[in-house]
Amino acid sequence: MDNDPLVYLNGKYLPVSQAHVSVLDRGFIYGDGVYELVPIYGREPFRLPHHLARLQRSLDGIRLANPHTNAQWESIIRELVARQPFDDQGVYFQVTRGAAKRDHSFPKGVPPTVFMMSNPLPLPSREQVDNGVAVVTADDNRWHRCDLKTISLLGNVLMRQLATDEGAAETVMFRDGFLTEASASNVLVVIGGTIVVPPKDNHILPGITYDATMEFAREAGIPLEVRAVSKAEALAADEMWLSSSTKEVLAITTVDGKPFGNGKPGPVFRRMWSVFQTMKPKVRQTA
Ligand SMILES: Cc1ncc(COP(=O)(O)O)c(C=O)c1O
Repeated sequence: MDNDPLVYLNGKYLPVSQAHVSVLDRGFIYGDGVYELVPIYGREPFRLPHHLARLQRSLDGIRLANPHTNAQWESIIRELVARQPFDDQGVYFQVTRGAAKRDHSFPKGVPPTVFMMSNPLPLPSREQVDNGVAVVTADDNRWHRCDLKTISLLGNVLMRQLATDEGAAETVMFRDGFLTEASASNVLVVIGGTIVVPPKDNHILPGITYDATMEFAREAGIPLEVRAVSKAEALAADEMWLSSSTKEVLAITTVDGKPFGNGKPGPVFRRMWSVFQTMKPKVRQTA
């Protein structure tokens, strides 16, 4: 891979080695910004309008004006995608409250910083799809606005490291005895043939893949229920999955070092994964 890939910073496309941001940028000082990650299949963004709607929601949540219209965002994304040497990409972009003298209060009249980069889309390997992945569990100690996709990710970073320390892929979290999500994925369970997902509230990120999975499940006639899932129920569920833009849907087959279920991806997962693979290009063509 190109070791000096082209990125976008405040209106310019330039090699990452030449992309510089002030040390006073509030993204650096406070983690004061929001971000998105859009998967690109065959150079076509997947569910871009959904990602841009979530970006707007995150910006509204932190009281930062959107620097671009959706049409402008789309053209910046398409330009950056066109300039990469690979077809399947993960476009990451963030907007921060800009560079200003350090002071907690919002600065006045300061332009936001807009940064975008695109990397090859790191989809799960065939081995991970066939055998599932390991997770660890932890109490969710993050703040109460997990519905905003902010760049202040220290809580999530510390959670993910618990998994990495154990050689696992993710950390599944529970708050007050109920399932929330994982450090960078949503979590779905299957109980008696029904997919059960926690509701979109302030304790989970409204995942675009979570929504896509539910839509695809409805279209495929797989029973689905949105409700709070207790820790006891989750740990006794027939299947547990992760969903995210880079994982699509991925079965969990080990929890805290012990096999989950029979230690193999379950039948509902296998069906859902196939449905996801067939629906993905269909959605892409009609988007
Ligand atoms: C905390 C968290 N939850 C859920 C998700 C899944 O969201 P999406 O499906 O939009 O990628 C992510 C994605 O990065 C995340 O960081």
